[in-house]
Amino acid sequence: MEKLDMLYKGKAKKLYSTDDPNVLWVEYMNQATAGDGAKKAQIQGKGSLNNRITTVLFRLLEAEGVKTDFIRRVSDTEQLNEKISMFPLEIIMRNTAAGSFAKRYGIKEGTQLKRPILEFCYKSDDLHDPFINVDGIVALGLATDEEMAEVSRQTRDISEKLTKIFHDIDVKLVDFKIEEGKNKDGEIVLADEITPDTCRLWDLKDGSGKVEHLDKDLFRRDLGDIIPAYEEIYKRLLALADRRGVKVE
Ligand code: TMP
Ligand code: ASP
Repeated sequence: MEKLDMLYKGKAKKLYSTDDPNVLWVEYMNQATAGDGAKKAQIQGKGSLNNRITTVLFRLLEAEGVKTDFIRRVSDTEQLNEKISMFPLEIIMRNTAAGSFAKRYGIKEGTQLKRPILEFCYKSDDLHDPFINVDGIVALGLATDEEMAEVSRQTRDISEKLTKIFHDIDVKLVDFKIEEGKNKDGEIVLADEITPDTCRLWDLKDGSGKVEHLDKDLFRRDLGDIIPAYEEIYKRLLALADRRGVKVE
């Protein structure tokens, strides 16, 4: 497989074409941003950790029957993904109130929700990824009602599986963001990344009840270095894959 032209440079990844029209070459960067790029830093080791963490999580989810666009990891910071047609949506699931949800409704961060909440944001840097509901998505032609029913079903399923995965490594999955798209056979699949950049992960290990962030809130809120936290997540996930007999390259 050959890495060819750069197709797109996002805030955390670069996408390249390859000699196979159905395959994308994805490079994870060390760049960290917050607040729509208002805060920006280069953090040595972040690209490699996120490339590896996405690899383990996608392999763990695939082992439980989740369909993804992931092909394989090809280097420290790079992986191959199937080229799919992405829905321009950030798909967010919340189990516990935190971040923008806690702020929006004036709730204390950490409040347990009576049921999980599925939210959508329209991916547009110019518009700062505004909140959107299914009616808006369908009205704008971003996806059909049937596609959104399937996206919602898959996201709830992924949420249950991810919550269990993190629980098994003594981490509380507070909320997360995923992205989905349609592959060449017209199937809706999980895509993009799942990393501590895109999840809120609270350590349950010390049991004191004090929130210990193992995610990008460390960077967003200037609470400390993200690398030891991301390394800890990676180490625990690798041990879980081993316990579950899931092979990770
Ligand atoms: P929020 O509370 O800031 O809306 O974030 C909810 C979840 O989505 C949290 O786990 C972080 C993740 N997220 C992203 O992955 N990308 C984004 O651009 C935003 C705003 C949130
Ligand atoms: N808002 C994103 C985040 O906090 C990153 C960014 O917008 O720069 O994850």
